[in-house]
Order: sequence, then structure tokens, then C-alpha cells
Amino acid sequence: SDLGTSSDDEDDDDEEQEDKNETPEKNEPKQIISTSQENKHEEMEEKHKTEKDGLNEKKKADQDKVQNITPSQPTVFIPVDRFPEIQEARLKLPVLAEEQVIMEAVRENPFVVICGETGSGKTTQVPQFLYEAGYASDGGIIGITEPRRVAAVSMSHRVAKEMNLSTRVVSYQIRYEGNVTSDTKIQFMTDGVLLKEIQKDFLLKRYSAIIIDEAHERSVYTDILIGLLSRIVPLRNKKGMPMKLLVMSATLCVEDFTDNIKLFRVPPPVIKVDARQYPVTIHFNKRTPLEDYTGEVFHKTCKIHRMLPPGGILVFLTGQAEVHSLCRRLRKAFPFRKGSTTTDSSESMRRFKKAKQKKAVSLPRIDLDNYSALPVDEGDEDREAGIGDEEDEGSDLENEDDPTITEKADPSIPLFVLPLYSLLAPEKQAKVFRPPPPGTRLCVVATNVAETSLTIPGIKYVVDCGRVKKRFYDRVTGVSSFKISWISQASANQRAGRAGRTEPGHCYRLYSSAVFGDFSLFSEAEITRRPVEDLVLQMKDLNIDKVVNFPFPTSPSAEALIAAEQLLVSLGALKEVKEMEQARLSCPITPLGSAMASFPVTPRYAKMLALGKQQDCLPYVIAVVAAMTVRELFENLDRPAGSEDESSKLTQRRARLTQMRRLWAGQGTSLLLGDLMVMLGAVGACEFASCSPKFCEDIGLRYKAMLEIRRLRRQLTNAVNAVSPEVDAFVNPKMTPPTEHQVVCLRQIVLAGLGDHLARRVQAEDLLDPKWKNGYKTPLMDEPVFIHPTSALFKTLPEFVVYQEIVETTKMYMKGVSAVEQEWIPQLLPQYCHFGSPLEVPPPWFCSSTGTIKCHCPSTFFRVGWQLPAVEME
Ligand code: CDP
Ligand code: MG
Repeated sequence: SDLGTSSDDEDDDDEEQEDKNETPEKNEPKQIISTSQENKHEEMEEKHKTEKDGLNEKKKADQDKVQNITPSQPTVFIPVDRFPEIQEARLKLPVLAEEQVIMEAVRENPFVVICGETGSGKTTQVPQFLYEAGYASDGGIIGITEPRRVAAVSMSHRVAKEMNLSTRVVSYQIRYEGNVTSDTKIQFMTDGVLLKEIQKDFLLKRYSAIIIDEAHERSVYTDILIGLLSRIVPLRNKKGMPMKLLVMSATLCVEDFTDNIKLFRVPPPVIKVDARQYPVTIHFNKRTPLEDYTGEVFHKTCKIHRMLPPGGILVFLTGQAEVHSLCRRLRKAFPFRKGSTTTDSSESMRRFKKAKQKKAVSLPRIDLDNYSALPVDEGDEDREAGIGDEEDEGSDLENEDDPTITEKADPSIPLFVLPLYSLLAPEKQAKVFRPPPPGTRLCVVATNVAETSLTIPGIKYVVDCGRVKKRFYDRVTGVSSFKISWISQASANQRAGRAGRTEPGHCYRLYSSAVFGDFSLFSEAEITRRPVEDLVLQMKDLNIDKVVNFPFPTSPSAEALIAAEQLLVSLGALKEVKEMEQARLSCPITPLGSAMASFPVTPRYAKMLALGKQQDCLPYVIAVVAAMTVRELFENLDRPAGSEDESSKLTQRRARLTQMRRLWAGQGTSLLLGDLMVMLGAVGACEFASCSPKFCEDIGLRYKAMLEIRRLRRQLTNAVNAVSPEVDAFVNPKMTPPTEHQVVCLRQIVLAGLGDHLARRVQAEDLLDPKWKNGYKTPLMDEPVFIHPTSALFKTLPEFVVYQEIVETTKMYMKGVSAVEQEWIPQLLPQYCHFGSPLEVPPPWFCSSTGTIKCHCPSTFFRVGWQLPAVEME
């Protein structure tokens, strides 16, 4: 921790000086600005008037206001021609009342923080304020970053619509796609996209203002961006190219940004937007279900629908699988018929009868004619095995014998059930913003995405399961696991707040108040919970050698920084500085490291790409890296089936997929490339079928994942060619399979990238404990790890393997496994080996910083055929 606190930053003095023109109140303390309610109304009316009366008055007023400020401030007012109904809706948003306060603060300060409840209009309105005030009129554009792709896309559409402008002007850019043009004035993007842009142009000259949205989420990229922009903005101002930074948060917990002397010398003003929040009554559960909380959620939702007056219901669950499962259950319990056309209901009828026979209990008393083929399993078609959706709950039918439902389930109002989660297709997401069909009650079943990113209109009841699914990393071993954990008190209150947007509401917390009392106050910043090698590499590439001194809003642990630096040194991305312990954290970047930093993948995969041009392996390396980056190529066919029919279909498809995997894994050398060969085979096969949805469906590939891989392959090809362009820039999406020779090269390239993920099968003589049977030893862990049962090498059990990741479920499982020949280890990973003299017996050890694996190396070895690509630095 002593590393973390060393604060004498060399950069500080020259970089942090702010433009004097920009900060007239330099030494004044942080101001919390908030106008009284009456003022707000007046202002709102006035604004309404000016907009009605034409724009000239306002324009003039604006010009008067800015006259005696800096000449570099925009002085024009850019009119926006909104539809009257849009304008009317805008005027109801609390943030509109603060427009003047916000814009004055922005004019007078380089940094401004805006806090306001979700739904108060920050995301949709603040970019418009800046636009109208002319921040996009001088060639510069307004950039807004979102931690989630969903928000970037949907908000750009929304703002374009509100402003009555084309998406050529209000555009978005996310990792793989965007609609940005040369006419773009407002650009929504994910935070990762902006970070990449900083690498290309540190001063971000395209932008005149940047808004960092959803800062309370404390996503890693958001944190880093705020750190970087705290330096970039003053630099820009010094160079006479003024720029503004606005940080927006849904909570008031912004001390990490405002009271952080490393970030901002002068605490930025904090503008608080008073949301018109109606009271929400909180109902705690008496007991806290630990096991079947999804069952509890189902019961509660049914009860609300049956007993309580109209008003939308918003349910918070943890993952996509849970969301779909609950949607199915609710749709079965409260069927909803779309339109008046009678659709073919024989299938549903049959199912219904079958289920009834199977369970000798009375089912919800439903109107049989009310069945429609439409909603029952609609969710399934967009189901994806997304991040963290490995687990699924038990059968849907389980709860149908619930007596409370059978007694009373005769809803006069149908329930209109919609799922909502990050990976849901945007068109489907958009449904939640539309009013439900007349005479129905809206019920949105959502993951955390509905907590702050999106506001759903008309919600009166919130059902909160109190949990969230998060990815956890073991700081030492890098083992990741998805765990469902309790949310923070701040999150619980955010969730409750969703119920009071339009009228007083109710929040049902499915946990006791005692449990709530034990929740942490706020969620931890993500940066403290994940490995940081990618961030460290990016920073080194920005010439921030002493990463410890970087103005992180919350600094990662010294441990994590050291581990990252060590990994980057062993990948050859950083040059080792052999001095004191402290020097570890100031290793400079190598030309290879710079090349790696330009690839939009983690450093281990970037290393593979850097080596990929040998033996014409590049197209394959790119395909493999793309496939490893996109999580879950294969559909999750282990989901519970809704009916016997579906169940037999699933069994068939599972068998088919297993067969295909075996086929793709190949034989001989190919088989030894293991799961990576399976990925390559899947990508290759899919491309030969021109990536058709039907092909994917038939063999259990996730269509969306395959599309993403295709885009990523193109992007990676461009990135690699940008570094050393001598090779043919074109990679045909259709590949011929690699030759035997190429497969051997591929395995070596994979080893070079995943060198720290080497594992050795436990030797017979070490097999003291039966728990080690078929187990592997890794340098960093005391416990055995195993090859995942779905792996191509599950039965082969090679002596040495490298793995993509270890995921902890019932056991520690290696995923993405490929076999390694032991003589490659000293050749390709000398940095991990201790070499004794040839006379020394026993032979050398393969070792990593804290552990060793016995490795019998040949006494002589030399490096052959393994060169790094020529990297040219400007
Ligand atoms: O960013 P913040 O949470 O403060 O609010 P916002 O996302 O700007 O949303 C402001 C209002 O616009 C909310 O009441 C939303 O319901 C509404 N909105 C909408 O109707 N349709 C969208 N696609 C996005 C927002
Ligand atoms: Mg927002």
C-alpha cells in the first residue's frame, strides 16, 4: 500500500495548471448548486416562453451572457426544431429546470459534475443543452460515453428523435459498429471507444466537450477516462483549444471525483438536479429466501398483479436465464392475447393438457381461448448464453401447483410481460419504452440494466430480489467466476426509486430489513475487482510509465498493478527494469508492447496477434482470438425445456452439437490444438455457410456471436496490418483449414500468448490424494484444476496444456484448452524457466513467480523459427 500512496507526480506540476480564464473562482470550495422549487417553475415558464416566442430573444440573451467571459466560449445559439409534443415532455424533466445553472457552470469551469436521479433527463437533455449553446458549432463535436452499449445506441436514437435531427448528426459508436459521419455533432459511445481514441489522439481534438455518463457505476473505463481527462482538459485549455468535461452521476456519491486532489486541484462544482420523486413505500420480507429466490419473485409478482391497482411492475433479477424463465412462468400464469385474431392454439392446448395430466394439481384458471402462439416462448428466440448465464433454475412447471395462484388466478387485466437485459436486441429493448397494449398491465423483468441506465415509464411496483450477478477475479490466480451477490444499499435504493417516477409507488424487497442493514453502502469500483494488465498496457502506451501515480478515482491495489506489470514484462510488452522493487512499476513500453496496445484485445491475445504473421497463420490466429474474445460461441442447450416436445428437440440438438464439436476438433495435430481448433472449425464452417442464421440454429452456434466474430476479425485484421502493412491486407472470411504444419505453429503461438496459463497433469507418483485424479497443477494454485467436460481434450489429457481461463463452478475448470509439447516450453517461455547447467540432474524446472512445475527439458535447446514481426515506431 505504500506504493499506492506515493503521490509526487512529476506530471502534476506542468499538466495540472489550469487555464486562468477558465477558473475564475479557483480557490473557492466546491459549490453545491441547486435552485429552489419556485425558481425552477419560473425558469421553466420563461424558457417555455422564449422557445415559443421564437429563438432570437434567447439567442440575444445568450450572447449578452457570454460577452464578458472568455473569447473562446461559443457565442452562438443553435436552434433546434423540436416537435411540440417532444418539447412538452422535455419541459417536465427536472433537469430542464437546471439548464441555466448547468450551462453557466460549464461556461465558467472546465470540469462540472451533475448528479440527478435516474430519469431526471441527464443523458437525453444535457447533450442538447451543450448543442444549443453552440458547443458543436465550431467544428468540434460533443461526445458522451456510456458504460453499456445498449445505452449508447438507444440514447443516440432517442436524442436524434427529440432534436428532430438525422442519425448522421446524432450518432453512436460502439465496439463493432456505429453510424458516425462527417456531419456528426453529438456522438454517443461506449467508454472503451473513447479510451481507444485517446490512444490515437491524446488531446481528443475532435471534441469540444465530453460528457462521462453513469459515473456512479464506476466502470473501469469510466474511471480511467476521468483520470485521463483531468489531464487532457487543462492541456487543451493551455493550448488555446478549450474543452469541457462533464461528469454525470445518478447518485450523490461523487467524493471520489470531487474531493480527489490528484484528479482536480480545484474541486469542480456539483450541480444537483432535484428529481420529482414521489414517495415509495418499502416493504421488506420477514424472512430472506436463500435458495429459491426466483420462486419468491414469481409469487410476489403474481400477488401484486392479482391484488393491487393498475400500474407497471418492474422486477429485478440477476441474469438473462432467470429473466427468461420468469417471463415464461408469468406468461403461462397470466396469458396475454395479442390482437383479436385467433391464432393456432392447438399446440398450446396440447401442451396445457399434457402439463395438466402430468401434474395432478389444478392449474391457474385461465381462459383457454385466450392462448396464443405468440407470447409463450417468445423470449427464447433472442436467448443467448451471455455473460454469466451459465446457470439456470429448475423446471418452469415447478411452481404451477402453487395454491395461492390456482385459487384466485382470474385476472381481469392481462399481464404484458417483457424481458430486458443488456444483450437483448435493441428493437426488443425499445418495446419497454412504449405503452403496453390498452387494457393490460406492463411487467418488465430486467437485470441490473434497469437500475440506472434506462428509465421505463409507468412503473408503480418494483420487486427487488436484492441480488446482482458479478464477475469476480481472484487477484492472484486470475481465476474468474460469476457470483450472485447482495447488492449495495445504494443500489437497493436506486431500484426502489424506479417505482416513484410518475406517482407514489411500492417496492417489495425480498429480503429482511436486517439483511439490508448488512449490505455495503455503495458498490465497489470495478477497477478494484479485476486484473488490470490491459489498462496498464494502454497507460504505458500513453507514456504514463509510473502507473502508480496515475490519478485513478480509486486506485487498483499495488498487488494488482505489480501482477500486471510482471505479466507484461514476460510477454515482452514492457522492458524489465532490474532495480529496486519499486522499479517494477515503471518499466517502459517496448515496440512490441506498442504494437500490442494498438490491438483491441487483452495483452495475452495481442501477443498472439503480434506473432501471427509467421507461416501464414495470421487469418487463423485472428479467427481464434476473435472467437476467444466473444464469450460463448455455442448456444446453451442445457436450459430447462418448457414441454416434452421441446425437451426431445433439445436432446437432439445437444447430440448434434457434441458431434459437431468432435468433428471440428479433428485428429492428430489438429486435435492437440484442442478447444481452439473447435472454435476455428466453428468459425470456418459458419463462414462457408455464409454465416446464415439457419445454419447457426441447426448446429447450435450462437448467431449473434458469429456475427460479432466476423466483425472482430475484420477489425483485428486492419489493426494488425496497420502495424506491419507488408502483408496482404485482405483476409477472406472464408478460410481453408490450416495445414498440419500451421496447426503446430498455431499451438506454439497460443503457448507464447498464454504462457502464464500453463498447467501440467499430475504425475502418477504425485497422486497421493484421490481428489487429484485427472487433475492438473498450475504454478499459482495449490488446488487441482481440471479440463472442462465439454473440452475437446477432456479424454486426451495431454501432459502439458495451456488454458484460456479457469472458471470455478463445481470444480476449478480450465476452458479453452490446447496441448503443449514440453520441449517448446524452454524455447518459447524461457522467461518462466530456470536453467541449470547440462550436468545438473534433475533437469530444470518450469517456474512462475510463486510456484514451480517439474519439466524435463532437453539439455540443449535453441530458439528457432520464432521471430517477432518487425515493428516500426514513429
Ligand atoms: O439520464 P437520466 O436517467 O437522468 O434520464 P434520461 O435517460 O435522459 O431519461 C429522461 C426521460 O426520457 C425518462 O423519463 C425516460 O422515460 C424518457 N425516455 C424515453 O421515453 N425513451 C427513451 N428511449 C429514453 C428516455
Ligand atoms: Mg442516464
